Amino acid sequence: MNSIAELLNSARQQLLNSDTAQLDVELLLCHCLECERSYLFTWPEKQLSDQHNEHFQKLLERRIAGEPVAHIIAKRDFWDLTLEVNSSTLIPRPDTETLVEQALDYFPSGAAAALDLGTGTGAIALALASEWPSCKLLAVDLNAEAVALAERNRVANNIQNVRFLQSSWFAEIDPGSRFNLIVSNPPYIDPIDPHLQEGDVRFEPLSALIAGDGGMADLKLIVQQAPHYLDSGGYLLLEHGYQQAALVRELLSLQGFVDVASREDIAGHERISFARWP
Ligand SMILES: C[S@@+](CC[C@H](N)C(=O)[O-])C[C@H]1O[C@@H](n2cnc3c(N)ncnc32)[C@H](O)[C@@H]1O
Repeated sequence: MNSIAELLNSARQQLLNSDTAQLDVELLLCHCLECERSYLFTWPEKQLSDQHNEHFQKLLERRIAGEPVAHIIAKRDFWDLTLEVNSSTLIPRPDTETLVEQALDYFPSGAAAALDLGTGTGAIALALASEWPSCKLLAVDLNAEAVALAERNRVANNIQNVRFLQSSWFAEIDPGSRFNLIVSNPPYIDPIDPHLQEGDVRFEPLSALIAGDGGMADLKLIVQQAPHYLDSGGYLLLEHGYQQAALVRELLSLQGFVDVASREDIAGHERISFARWP
């Protein structure tokens, strides 16, 4: 019982705790066989060697123990890029593509200069750079390992127009720099949120997830400091928790931003808020 189809079927039934069991087992098997997913559907009767079988069972055990697929296979697709992923930062989420879409709506032919705060794998900056080859992007992260990871992702995806820098938010950014777009998906989870004990986040660093002040501290700092770095008419775009949209819109309005609004992610939650600096 070791054809591709049988193996996938039995593995899926063992992954009781995953909402994406079928996809998980397909990705793990593709990793073992070094193949595309289409191969699995084209050759369902193909028998696996003992070596491949053994390798797959080891990966499956890690997934059954809760480890995210992206950590097991060390990569995750985001936008139309494949990004290396490790435990130094967040695994890029499909929800964050909503933020990229909003940025593209604001600047259909590209922003001139954009800044990504808390870049992690480089996901947002690299997606925007791939869409806007003539935009100059700067992307920062506090974590040196994340900065090195983002740089490897830049090279692997052959993207030229992003520079990565280690910085605590704006601290290392030249005070004379001006951007017409600032984007950020900062840590925003309340440190006492029970969701931190569930699913993939258990394997991600708290430095990428939690913020003081009930999760609002980093969002507040970014809203307060962004105006010093935005051109007149420039936009600030923030990802936040599904219960934080009203708070973030209030922060933006109080700070003097205009055209303040939010947008729903693919699950229908208001997870992105944005505004223009007048
Ligand atoms: C929620 S993750 C987002 C990662 C990536 N932008 C994404 O959307 O997949 C937040 C990132 O902010 C970084 N971070 C945390 N505190 C920071 C700070 N003070 N300055 C800059 N980056 C920080 C973390 O290291 C982490 O990579």
